[in-house]
Amino acid sequence: MTPGSFPRTRLRRTRQTPYLRAMVRETSLAPGQLIQPLFVAEGALKGAVGAMPGVTRLDLDELVRECEALKALGVGCVALFPVTPAERKTPGGDEALNPDSLMVRAIKAIKRSVSGIGVLADVALDPYTSHGQDGVLDANGYVDNGASVGILRRQALLYARAGVDIVAPSDMMDGRIGQIRDVLERDGQRNTLIMSYAAKYASAFYGPFRDAVGSSGNLGKGGKETYQMDPANTDEALREVALDLDEGADMVMVKPGMPYLDIIRRVKDEFGVPTAAYQVSGEYSMLQGAIDNGWLDERKAVLESLLCFRRAGADMILSYFSKRAAQWLGD
Ligand code: PBG
Repeated sequence: MTPGSFPRTRLRRTRQTPYLRAMVRETSLAPGQLIQPLFVAEGALKGAVGAMPGVTRLDLDELVRECEALKALGVGCVALFPVTPAERKTPGGDEALNPDSLMVRAIKAIKRSVSGIGVLADVALDPYTSHGQDGVLDANGYVDNGASVGILRRQALLYARAGVDIVAPSDMMDGRIGQIRDVLERDGQRNTLIMSYAAKYASAFYGPFRDAVGSSGNLGKGGKETYQMDPANTDEALREVALDLDEGADMVMVKPGMPYLDIIRRVKDEFGVPTAAYQVSGEYSMLQGAIDNGWLDERKAVLESLLCFRRAGADMILSYFSKRAAQWLGD
């Protein structure tokens, strides 16, 4: 590309009118590229999420209605996150393997009555452990990789058998994608997709999510740095993605989103595989807080944030704004 010289080249010529801007636009955003995360709860646990204004924990009836509404808007997929009552949380995260857990019932309820929208289930133990970690602990309190993967693969199989379309391991244990793929194949669940949270960083931006699912109190001061990635690293993200693809992931994810657009670009350039970005809870709350204060234009700021994921190379985007964005895109 050789740059011309002014005034023969005036880049403003193609910016003069809406139709010119539309003709030269390189990136597009469509509802089908959006994934809506949804929190599912029962009884007293349903209702508004304090740290995420505008986000609600839904019961099963509300969940099914919400999926119907999202489908009508053309949203591609929903990602389910269950809220577990404190008394069902244990050090071993046993509820993860309960064949009648809220997650299993949620998957079945959606699959029974809504078609044409994908259902993705997060696979990790943090909704179910009393200590809030994504795996189980060894005698020293260290998250035990092998023991955790042994449970995660059974959890993934449970959700696949319940009819989920995509399992999304968010735990960041080593080797779990291969183990999950093997168990799915052996069980005949050949078409269950795996979206790997491949480059998932130990981020402060998950704070509001932990409030939403009620795991922050359990986690206490303990962080997830022994398994989630160091925000300082970028080459390591490529190694994570390479391993997960080799182990059988169909799609990979980079998480968080906006502060990690460089990682999305590197992953997309290096591997050229279906790549998702997760605009996480803290990013939502930052934007929504500024919107609620009148500091940002809601529609423009949200759509710009989502478009920029696409420009960075993301094929699909998990965002708590997905429903609103799909509405605006359809206007
Ligand atoms: C749990 C999980 C987390 C998120 C998705 N799955 C939190 C964490 O790792 O602590 C974060 C989502 C968000 O912040 O929106 N494994």
